[in-house]
Amino acid sequence: MSTNALPQTHKALVQEVYGEPLVLKTVPTPQPPPGAAIIKIIYAPIISYMRDVYNGKRKYGYVTPLVPGSSAIGRVAATGPDATLIKEGDLVYFDCTIRGRDDSGALILMGLSRGIGDGSKALMEGEWRDCTFAEYTKVPLENLFRLDEKRLCSSPVDGGLGYAPDQLVWILQAMVPFGGLRSIRLQAGETVIVAPATGGFGSAAVVVALGMGARVIAMGRNSEELAKLKALGPRVETVQIVGDVEKEVESLKKFGRIDAFFDISPREAQNSTHFKSAILSLGYEGRVSMMGGFLHDVPIPHRYIMRQDITLKGKWMYSREDCQAFLGLMTTGVLDVRKIVKVVETFKLEEWEKAFDVAAEHGGKLGQLVMFTP
Ligand SMILES: NC(=O)c1ccc[n+]([C@@H]2O[C@H](COP(=O)([O-])OP(=O)(O)OC[C@H]3O[C@@H](n4cnc5c(N)ncnc54)[C@H](OP(=O)(O)O)[C@@H]3O)[C@@H](O)[C@H]2O)c1
Repeated sequence: MSTNALPQTHKALVQEVYGEPLVLKTVPTPQPPPGAAIIKIIYAPIISYMRDVYNGKRKYGYVTPLVPGSSAIGRVAATGPDATLIKEGDLVYFDCTIRGRDDSGALILMGLSRGIGDGSKALMEGEWRDCTFAEYTKVPLENLFRLDEKRLCSSPVDGGLGYAPDQLVWILQAMVPFGGLRSIRLQAGETVIVAPATGGFGSAAVVVALGMGARVIAMGRNSEELAKLKALGPRVETVQIVGDVEKEVESLKKFGRIDAFFDISPREAQNSTHFKSAILSLGYEGRVSMMGGFLHDVPIPHRYIMRQDITLKGKWMYSREDCQAFLGLMTTGVLDVRKIVKVVETFKLEEWEKAFDVAAEHGGKLGQLVMFTP
């Protein structure tokens, strides 16, 4: 371990009181205890709905004072004494899904959500409170993934894939659907409905499912965004959400057998027809990955689910193994998103208000990224 490179203090965005404006502060830089590393944040993505998280509108459960944030791309600045693989200078993907080391069911989204239960609460109130909207962040070693920088970012002439490093931030958007699709064992050659498919995680789900070898039926309200998804290739079909279950089922069933449905509904879609239509379109032994953020109960077509042996699988985030498997898809080039992922704009920490607005406007669209470069 060498902590020589660490400055005594660094800049971080802090929310002192829940829902109140963020403040750029100079704070002490943590030292890396066993089991952790300090990373210098290079790119910290801003999710489309973060403005409404941190102004309190979405009522996310988190504690204050807090340094907000989520997953990020960084460089390892210092490691705890028990690091075995991660080394200073490594380019890493930090995943914000923190689990109890003695209870993997205790789960928080660092900087965003304290999850459910006392174990999760202890994680967020204690060691893992401050996240990535900062120059430096202390993170658990097991949440770091070394990126093969040479392979991913060097020029194709030199055997690389030619990604711009900031494009790698897209991993954050892709991991959520990958976790859900993997949890229902989506196979190459199967057909999956993604709905709604026109948002940030929804559009990423279409790209990820294609990369996993599936055919995708993208459902949504916005025909312009659906057309962009259709243009991804011949394995994408689109169906409009029209507010009529019968009509939607008819449109979906035109595409033959459907094996799976990936639900990524936002809370606003509580009364949308797509959830029921997608389930009623599944073939025998169809599977549903429920990753949507509904706040209230949604009715399910119980009899159809029973008669068709349908599996409903809830999923919050994903595992470390999922992350490793996903990075394999990216690093081998099996999943190639170089032409899909675009950085809309980058911001310094002090520009957080404008950054949140730009993310709200552009961050929820196919391949579009907004981020801090602290
Ligand atoms: N389980 C997990 O681990 C996990 C992780 C991350 C996120 N989530 C959840 O996933 C949700 C969606 O994420 P996102 O990035 O796609 O959000 P987003 O970028 O805000 O996009 C929202 C999507 O929902 C559609 N929509 C909005 N209101 C609708 C309505 N009334 N009826 C039908 N469709 C509607 C939008 O379609 P238009 O284009 O037509 O507006 C868009 O496709 C989040 O709200 C969050 O709760 C879950």
